[in-house]
Amino acid sequence: MTEKLWGGRFAAQTDALVEQFTASIAVDQRLYVEDIRGSQAHARMLGRVGVLSPAEAEQICTALEQIRQEIAEGRLPFRNELEDIHMHVESRLIELLGDTGKKLHTGRSRNDQVATDMRLYTRGAIDRLRALLRQLQGVLVDLAEREADTILPGLTHLQVAQPVTFGHHCMAYVEMFRRDSERLADARKRVNVLPLGAAALAGTTFPIDRWDVAHELGFAELSENSMDAVSDRDFLLETLAALSILAVHLSRLAEELILWMSAAFAFIDLPDAFCTGSSIMPQKKNPDVAELIRGKSGKVMGQLVSLLVLMKGQPLAYNRDNQEDKAIFFAALDEVESSLVVLTQMLPGLQTHPESMRAEAEKGFATATDLADYLVRKGVPFRDAHAIVGKAVRLAQERGLGLESLPLAELQALSPRIDADVSAVLTLEGSVAARNQHGGTAPNQVRAAIARARQRLGWERQA
Ligand code: ARG
Repeated sequence: MTEKLWGGRFAAQTDALVEQFTASIAVDQRLYVEDIRGSQAHARMLGRVGVLSPAEAEQICTALEQIRQEIAEGRLPFRNELEDIHMHVESRLIELLGDTGKKLHTGRSRNDQVATDMRLYTRGAIDRLRALLRQLQGVLVDLAEREADTILPGLTHLQVAQPVTFGHHCMAYVEMFRRDSERLADARKRVNVLPLGAAALAGTTFPIDRWDVAHELGFAELSENSMDAVSDRDFLLETLAALSILAVHLSRLAEELILWMSAAFAFIDLPDAFCTGSSIMPQKKNPDVAELIRGKSGKVMGQLVSLLVLMKGQPLAYNRDNQEDKAIFFAALDEVESSLVVLTQMLPGLQTHPESMRAEAEKGFATATDLADYLVRKGVPFRDAHAIVGKAVRLAQERGLGLESLPLAELQALSPRIDADVSAVLTLEGSVAARNQHGGTAPNQVRAAIARARQRLGWERQA
């Protein structure tokens, strides 16, 4: 039987079932690098302020380094009796150093320790996510450039509305992912606060130097209230909320890829290497990667709700409920990271079918608004123009023609203001080229947006 590090006041051993129920090592072993880094900073500080001798601090830091290597190489066995990563590290330290190892936990508690570990971990995760978002934006910008002139029927209500370019559509997602990255960067400011020093909940009697630890660990601020520091998890909630919004964006893009690849749309094809087949239907090529991105996004939103509910009933300060934060947060993080990676790999292989997109835009009378705008420029009030074009659409529909194929004489019968120059506004290219304002779909505006995005991403334009 293992002697518990907290076992002094207990007469009986912990029930094995309870050890199994309360252990978190299976999940929090993932924090070992952060845990050891935090402990080293704490030990060095204790050495500097004289709570430990310089030699003791040095010994502890060296032994912690050895433990880090042991864990990295899978040489430290994990056991439920030792509960969590903090106890595993500390008990190994005591095994290695005896009494000196027993001094590490002076002036701190697992409550401020675990909060520190999670903040360090989350800060690193945010940096990784932002790098992945940058790569994804880069891939979308490249795709937008390749397809800057490709006509796509723009939809509202899933009905053909007005022509846009495929590149413009790609750039819409670049904007969404940019905001996701900014949200994460903003959350990072509130993540990057040092809780260590709060101890269990009330602070410590030892003359610790919190700024010393903060500087060593790269924290920009100290927590201002010890009770808040050990019980708050809103830094995780905020990050998870940003992840959920990001997951919504991933899901919407995935949904579009799925629709576009279906035979009913036939706008795109996704690379074979990123699709899967059916065990029964030999003809099938399914966009499973996109479907899973869409599916996983639902889990991420669920994880946000799980963490909100985990927190809502807790009185101050630390409660063991908080241990459950990790499984929730890590799961969401893993879903989003893997989705970002696979999507970024898949998108460069996307092929467009411009003829299908064009045919759909023509069938949907996508330039009807252009005709109305044309009449307005010729002096017809917009409402009247709207009605005239409505009639033109009905006529074209009856004939089975696109607006651009209606004979000029028939258009002139609807309004004498229509001249031969109308043909230019009825083409799909004319329509998109005319939307030539900042943020519009005109190919030269899309190229300008691409240039701005590349500048923002700090990338050189590729030849
Ligand atoms: N494993 C715990 C957690 O993740 C560490 C803190 C435990 N503190 C305590 N007083 N039991 O929250």
